[in-house]
Amino acid sequence: MPFVLLNDVCKEYRRDAVGVRAAHKVSFTIERGELVMIVGPSGAGKTTVLNLLGGMDRCDSGEIIVDGVHVDAMSRRALTRYRREDIGFVFQFYNLVQNLTAVENIELATEISKRAASPMKMLQKVGMADRADHFPAQLSGGEQQRVSIARALCKKPKLLLCDEPTGALDFQTGQVVLRLLQQCCREDGMTVVIITHNRALIPMADRVIELSGGKVTSVTMQKNPLPVSEIKW
Ligand SMILES: Nc1ncnc2c1ncn2[C@@H]1O[C@H](COP(=O)(O)OP(=O)(O)O)[C@@H](O)[C@H]1O
Ligand SMILES: [Mg+2]
Repeated sequence: MPFVLLNDVCKEYRRDAVGVRAAHKVSFTIERGELVMIVGPSGAGKTTVLNLLGGMDRCDSGEIIVDGVHVDAMSRRALTRYRREDIGFVFQFYNLVQNLTAVENIELATEISKRAASPMKMLQKVGMADRADHFPAQLSGGEQQRVSIARALCKKPKLLLCDEPTGALDFQTGQVVLRLLQQCCREDGMTVVIITHNRALIPMADRVIELSGGKVTSVTMQKNPLPVSEIKW
Protein backbone atom coordinates (compact mmCIF):
# COMPACT_ATOMS: atom_id res chain seq x y z
CA MET A 1 0.00 0.00 0.00
CA PRO A 2 1.45 3.41 -0.96
CA PHE A 3 2.12 5.99 1.78
CA VAL A 4 -0.50 8.35 0.32
CA LEU A 5 -3.37 7.26 -1.89
CA LEU A 6 -6.10 9.35 -3.47
CA ASN A 7 -8.73 7.35 -5.32
CA ASP A 8 -11.45 9.04 -7.44
CA VAL A 9 -11.59 12.05 -5.13
CA CYS A 10 -14.33 14.55 -6.02
CA LYS A 11 -15.01 17.98 -4.57
CA GLU A 12 -17.59 20.44 -5.80
CA TYR A 13 -18.02 23.96 -4.45
CA ARG A 14 -21.50 25.40 -4.77
CA ARG A 15 -21.82 29.07 -5.51
CA ASP A 16 -25.52 30.07 -5.56
CA ALA A 17 -27.06 27.50 -7.89
CA VAL A 18 -23.83 26.86 -9.81
CA GLY A 19 -21.45 24.04 -8.91
CA VAL A 20 -17.69 24.33 -9.48
CA ARG A 21 -15.95 20.98 -9.96
CA ALA A 22 -12.71 21.84 -8.15
CA ALA A 23 -11.57 18.20 -8.06
CA HIS A 24 -13.02 15.51 -10.30
CA LYS A 25 -12.04 11.86 -9.89
CA VAL A 26 -8.54 12.78 -8.73
CA SER A 27 -6.35 9.69 -8.25
CA PHE A 28 -2.64 9.46 -7.47
CA THR A 29 -0.19 7.88 -5.05
CA ILE A 30 2.86 9.19 -3.18
CA GLU A 31 5.61 7.10 -1.59
CA ARG A 32 7.25 7.92 1.73
CA GLY A 33 10.19 10.30 1.41
CA GLU A 34 9.30 11.61 -2.03
CA LEU A 35 9.47 15.21 -3.18
CA VAL A 36 6.26 15.74 -5.13
CA MET A 37 5.25 18.70 -7.29
CA ILE A 38 1.61 19.43 -8.05
CA VAL A 39 1.58 21.72 -11.07
CA GLY A 40 -1.12 23.35 -13.15
CA PRO A 41 -2.56 26.73 -14.08
CA SER A 42 -4.47 28.96 -11.69
CA GLY A 43 -7.87 27.46 -10.92
CA ALA A 44 -6.74 23.90 -11.78
CA GLY A 45 -7.69 22.59 -8.34
CA LYS A 46 -4.21 22.41 -6.77
CA THR A 47 -5.11 24.11 -3.48
CA THR A 48 -8.34 22.11 -3.29
CA VAL A 49 -6.43 18.83 -3.53
CA LEU A 50 -3.84 19.95 -0.96
CA ASN A 51 -6.55 21.06 1.46
CA LEU A 52 -8.33 17.70 1.10
CA LEU A 53 -5.05 15.85 1.69
CA GLY A 54 -4.27 18.03 4.71
CA GLY A 55 -7.70 17.58 6.30
CA MET A 56 -8.63 21.25 5.97
CA ASP A 57 -11.58 20.34 3.79
CA ARG A 58 -13.61 17.20 3.13
CA CYS A 59 -14.14 15.45 -0.18
CA ASP A 60 -17.64 14.66 -1.51
CA SER A 61 -16.64 11.16 -2.62
CA GLY A 62 -13.59 8.99 -3.11
CA GLU A 63 -10.85 7.76 -0.81
CA ILE A 64 -7.92 9.57 0.82
CA ILE A 65 -5.56 7.25 2.70
CA VAL A 66 -2.43 8.49 4.49
CA ASP A 67 -0.08 6.02 6.20
CA GLY A 68 -2.80 3.37 6.21
CA VAL A 69 -5.51 5.61 7.67
CA HIS A 70 -8.69 6.71 5.89
CA VAL A 71 -8.67 10.52 6.12
CA ASP A 72 -11.96 10.64 4.17
CA ALA A 73 -13.78 8.73 6.94
CA MET A 74 -12.39 10.61 9.95
CA SER A 75 -14.64 12.14 12.57
CA ARG A 76 -14.28 15.87 13.20
CA ARG A 77 -12.23 15.17 16.29
CA ALA A 78 -9.92 12.76 14.45
CA LEU A 79 -9.50 15.26 11.64
CA THR A 80 -8.46 17.96 14.12
CA ARG A 81 -5.87 15.61 15.61
CA TYR A 82 -4.67 14.70 12.10
CA ARG A 83 -4.12 18.39 11.24
CA ARG A 84 -2.36 19.08 14.52
CA GLU A 85 -0.14 16.02 14.70
CA ASP A 86 0.38 14.70 11.21
CA ILE A 87 0.39 17.62 8.79
CA GLY A 88 2.82 20.50 8.38
CA PHE A 89 1.50 23.35 6.23
CA VAL A 90 3.50 26.09 4.50
CA PHE A 91 1.59 28.92 2.81
CA GLN A 92 2.51 31.45 0.14
CA PHE A 93 2.25 34.40 2.55
CA TYR A 94 3.89 32.67 5.59
CA ASN A 95 0.94 33.34 7.97
CA LEU A 96 3.12 34.15 10.99
CA VAL A 97 1.51 35.82 13.99
CA GLN A 98 2.73 39.42 13.76
CA ASN A 99 2.95 40.18 17.49
CA LEU A 100 4.99 37.07 18.31
CA THR A 101 8.72 36.64 17.67
CA ALA A 102 10.12 33.97 15.37
CA VAL A 103 10.74 31.53 18.21
CA GLU A 104 7.34 32.29 19.81
CA ASN A 105 5.59 31.55 16.52
CA ILE A 106 7.16 28.10 16.57
CA GLU A 107 6.40 27.57 20.27
CA LEU A 108 2.75 28.28 19.52
CA ALA A 109 2.67 25.36 17.09
CA THR A 110 4.53 23.01 19.45
CA GLU A 111 1.97 23.66 22.18
CA ILE A 112 -0.79 21.89 20.26
CA SER A 113 1.33 18.92 19.24
CA LYS A 114 2.48 15.92 21.28
CA ARG A 115 5.80 14.95 19.73
CA ALA A 116 7.19 18.40 18.98
CA ALA A 117 10.90 19.19 18.54
CA SER A 118 12.62 22.09 20.30
CA PRO A 119 11.75 25.43 18.63
CA MET A 120 15.35 26.70 18.84
CA LYS A 121 16.64 23.53 17.22
CA MET A 122 14.21 24.03 14.35
CA LEU A 123 15.33 27.65 13.92
CA GLN A 124 18.93 26.43 13.75
CA LYS A 125 17.92 23.93 11.10
CA VAL A 126 16.52 26.65 8.83
CA GLY A 127 19.47 28.97 9.52
CA MET A 128 17.43 31.49 11.54
CA ALA A 129 18.69 30.89 15.10
CA ASP A 130 20.26 34.37 15.31
CA ARG A 131 16.87 35.93 14.44
CA ALA A 132 14.87 34.06 17.10
CA ASP A 133 13.80 37.23 18.92
CA HIS A 134 12.84 39.21 15.83
CA PHE A 135 9.23 39.89 14.89
CA PRO A 136 7.96 38.93 11.42
CA ALA A 137 7.98 42.59 10.31
CA GLN A 138 11.73 42.69 11.00
CA LEU A 139 12.34 39.74 8.65
CA SER A 140 12.42 39.56 4.84
CA GLY A 141 9.89 37.42 2.99
CA GLY A 142 12.38 34.58 2.54
CA GLU A 143 13.33 34.70 6.22
CA GLN A 144 9.66 34.61 7.27
CA GLN A 145 9.14 31.61 5.02
CA ARG A 146 12.07 29.82 6.65
CA VAL A 147 10.48 30.45 10.07
CA SER A 148 7.17 29.12 8.79
CA ILE A 149 8.93 25.98 7.51
CA ALA A 150 10.51 25.54 10.97
CA ARG A 151 7.03 25.95 12.47
CA ALA A 152 5.61 23.28 10.14
CA LEU A 153 8.48 20.86 10.78
CA CYS A 154 8.66 21.22 14.58
CA LYS A 155 5.80 18.77 15.11
CA LYS A 156 7.58 16.15 12.99
CA PRO A 157 4.67 15.78 10.57
CA LYS A 158 4.08 12.78 8.34
CA LEU A 159 3.53 15.13 5.40
CA LEU A 160 4.83 18.61 4.66
CA LEU A 161 2.34 20.36 2.38
CA CYS A 162 3.47 23.61 0.72
CA ASP A 163 1.07 25.79 -1.29
CA GLU A 164 3.10 28.06 -3.61
CA PRO A 165 5.90 28.43 -1.01
CA THR A 166 8.00 30.63 -3.31
CA GLY A 167 5.07 32.45 -4.92
CA ALA A 168 5.85 35.71 -3.11
CA LEU A 169 9.66 35.47 -3.26
CA ASP A 170 12.31 36.61 -5.72
CA PHE A 171 14.55 34.08 -7.47
CA GLN A 172 17.38 34.05 -4.93
CA THR A 173 15.33 33.79 -1.73
CA GLY A 174 13.02 31.33 -3.50
CA GLN A 175 16.05 29.17 -4.18
CA VAL A 176 17.06 29.20 -0.50
CA VAL A 177 13.55 28.09 0.50
CA LEU A 178 13.42 25.33 -2.13
CA ARG A 179 16.89 24.10 -1.15
CA LEU A 180 15.65 23.84 2.43
CA LEU A 181 12.57 21.85 1.35
CA GLN A 182 14.70 19.56 -0.81
CA GLN A 183 17.07 19.05 2.14
CA CYS A 184 14.17 18.07 4.45
CA CYS A 185 13.28 15.42 1.93
CA ARG A 186 16.74 14.08 1.04
CA GLU A 187 18.39 14.26 4.47
CA ASP A 188 15.51 13.72 6.90
CA GLY A 189 13.29 11.50 4.78
CA MET A 190 10.35 13.92 5.01
CA THR A 191 7.59 13.48 2.43
CA VAL A 192 7.21 16.90 0.84
CA VAL A 193 4.41 18.06 -1.49
CA ILE A 194 4.89 21.41 -3.24
CA ILE A 195 2.22 23.18 -5.24
CA THR A 196 3.46 25.52 -7.94
CA HIS A 197 2.30 27.14 -11.15
CA ASN A 198 6.00 27.65 -12.04
CA ARG A 199 6.90 24.84 -14.45
CA ALA A 200 10.61 25.67 -14.15
CA LEU A 201 10.60 23.95 -10.74
CA ILE A 202 9.49 20.59 -12.15
CA PRO A 203 13.04 19.12 -12.58
CA MET A 204 13.64 19.05 -8.80
CA ALA A 205 10.77 16.63 -8.11
CA ASP A 206 10.70 12.83 -7.83
CA ARG A 207 7.07 12.80 -8.91
CA VAL A 208 5.12 15.39 -10.89
CA ILE A 209 1.33 15.48 -10.78
CA GLU A 210 -0.30 17.73 -13.36
CA LEU A 211 -3.78 19.09 -12.76
CA SER A 212 -6.06 20.89 -15.16
CA GLY A 213 -9.72 21.73 -14.75
CA GLY A 214 -9.92 19.72 -11.53
CA LYS A 215 -8.56 16.55 -13.16
CA VAL A 216 -5.20 14.81 -13.11
CA THR A 217 -3.84 15.04 -16.64
CA SER A 218 -0.53 13.26 -16.00
CA VAL A 219 1.72 11.74 -13.34
CA THR A 220 5.42 11.57 -14.18
CA MET A 221 8.28 9.96 -12.25
CA GLN A 222 11.73 11.54 -12.58
CA LYS A 223 14.66 9.20 -11.91
CA ASN A 224 17.30 11.90 -11.54
CA PRO A 225 15.77 15.02 -10.03
CA LEU A 226 18.03 18.09 -10.20
CA PRO A 227 19.44 19.89 -7.16
CA VAL A 228 17.81 23.28 -6.71
CA SER A 229 21.12 25.05 -7.50
CA GLU A 230 20.84 23.80 -11.10
CA ILE A 231 17.34 25.21 -11.60
CA LYS A 232 16.80 28.68 -13.07
CA TRP A 233 13.58 30.63 -13.46
N1 LIG B 1 -14.21 27.74 -1.15
C1 LIG B 1 -14.53 27.82 -2.44
N2 LIG B 1 -15.78 28.19 -2.83
C2 LIG B 1 -16.10 28.24 -4.14
N3 LIG B 1 -15.27 27.94 -5.15
C3 LIG B 1 -14.01 27.58 -4.83
C4 LIG B 1 -13.57 27.51 -3.47
N4 LIG B 1 -12.27 27.13 -3.48
C5 LIG B 1 -11.91 26.96 -4.75
N5 LIG B 1 -12.96 27.23 -5.58
C6 LIG B 1 -12.96 27.11 -7.06
O1 LIG B 1 -12.44 25.83 -7.38
C7 LIG B 1 -11.56 25.90 -8.49
C8 LIG B 1 -10.19 25.38 -8.10
O2 LIG B 1 -9.60 26.28 -7.17
P1 LIG B 1 -8.18 26.05 -6.50
O3 LIG B 1 -8.13 24.69 -5.94
O4 LIG B 1 -7.95 27.18 -5.56
O5 LIG B 1 -7.19 26.15 -7.75
P2 LIG B 1 -5.62 26.44 -7.82
O6 LIG B 1 -5.04 26.32 -6.46
O7 LIG B 1 -5.08 25.42 -8.79
O8 LIG B 1 -5.46 27.83 -8.37
C9 LIG B 1 -11.57 27.36 -8.94
O9 LIG B 1 -12.51 27.48 -9.99
C10 LIG B 1 -12.00 28.09 -7.70
O10 LIG B 1 -12.64 29.30 -8.04
MG1 LIG C 1 -4.01 27.64 -5.28
